[in-house]
Parts: sequence; C-alpha cells; structure tokens
Amino acid sequence: MTSQDELKCLAARKAVEYVQENEYLGIGTGSTVKFFIEALAESGLRIKGAVSTSVQTSELMKKCGIHEVALNEVNGLPLYVDGADEVNHLLQMIKGGGGALLNEKIVASASKQFICIADESKYVSRLGHVPLPVEVTPNARSLVARRLLKLGGDPNLRLGFTTDHGNLILDVNNLNLNEPIKMENAINNLPGVVDNGLFTNRPADLLILGCADGVKVLTAQS
Ligand code: 5RP
Repeated sequence: MTSQDELKCLAARKAVEYVQENEYLGIGTGSTVKFFIEALAESGLRIKGAVSTSVQTSELMKKCGIHEVALNEVNGLPLYVDGADEVNHLLQMIKGGGGALLNEKIVASASKQFICIADESKYVSRLGHVPLPVEVTPNARSLVARRLLKLGGDPNLRLGFTTDHGNLILDVNNLNLNEPIKMENAINNLPGVVDNGLFTNRPADLLILGCADGVKVLTAQS
C-alpha cells in the first residue's frame, strides 16, 4: 500500500464510526470509498442496506456482502460517505474524477449528513488545481465545449470514457472558481450539461482527513 493509500484507509476506517446500525446508507465511488466499503464489511455493523453511486461501488458492495437498495426504495438517507478530488475549508468540493458525479450529487442531496473522506493532499486553500468534470449528453459535446470556452475554461473530452448514464465527460481546466457556487450554477444552466463536479450548493458536513500525524475530523471553517 502506498503512503497515500494508508492515509485514505485511515480516513475510511474512521468514517465507519459514524455508520448507524439498522439504517440505510449512501456510498460514493473511488479508491478511498473502496477502503470504506472494506472497513464497513469488516466491522460487522448491521445496516439495512446501502444506495450505491456507481457500477464499481455496486460490485464492491456485492463482493463485501453489503445489500444494495435503490434510492427510489428509501425515504432519504441519514448518511452519505464519499471521497473528493479537492475539498476546501468550507467543505465545498470538486468531485467526479471517477466519473460518477451525477449519482454522487443525487445521493448527496438525498442525505441528511455528508461525510467526505480523503487523504490530506485533497485539502486545498482554493478549488481548481484539478480539472472540473462536466457531464454532457453526447449530442451536446461540442456545443457545451464552446460555451465552457466562453466561461474561461479549457475543456478536454475524457477519452474512451462513458458514464454509467451513457454520457460523456469534459474535464475543464483554468476556470476561475473564486465564486464556486455561481460557477456550479452557471455551468448547470448550459443546455446539454447533465451536471458538474462542483459540490458547493450541497457541501460536505464533515471532513475526515487522513494525515501523516493522524486522522482529523473537520467541520466548515468560516
Ligand atoms: C468519483 C469521485 C471520487 O470521490 C473522487 O474522484 C476521489 O477519488 P479517490 O478516492 O479515488 O481519490 O468523485 O466520481
């Protein structure tokens, strides 16, 4: 395991302490989440089931004996656990490195508490060092790319990748994210955009950060 994986694992294991027995749970996507699923299975906690955000997560859950339920079968979720590509002091995030941003945003929105788990390299003073993933319908790929250029971005099609919903991803560099809520809304207002990886209207409630000097549990700092 790399040292970054060890920090991801540290955060993931801590997050299991927040899982309530006899409740449903939402589970995100990615390598940090993989550690969470494994730690949850090892814990022996008995949950009613979990809503998955991707085929990848569903397969892992199945392998680990975690029962999957559809979001439509539950009346909201008490807790959602997911990783991030970047997270700031307000617990706003850029997500979607794994391409599961649409389901992640839906499940986050359905959840009372959102816990973000990450290694310390993901904690940034300003969002925007990683490209912003924008999910688009295939027929609007070029139209949306031109509109993103007008917004100041530099879009690149994620090659050889289709989302679980059959859409494409444009990874956008150089956007000015000084006002990330405005940017999240502006991009989502472009016809052909399904969603984008800015999680600012619904930030995380708690950040569990795996750090070289131990695990830190942070709330939003104003
Ligand atoms: C997937 C995501 C992931 O949470 C994000 O990419 C972080 O992944 P990892 O835990 O592998 O670093 O948003 O769409």
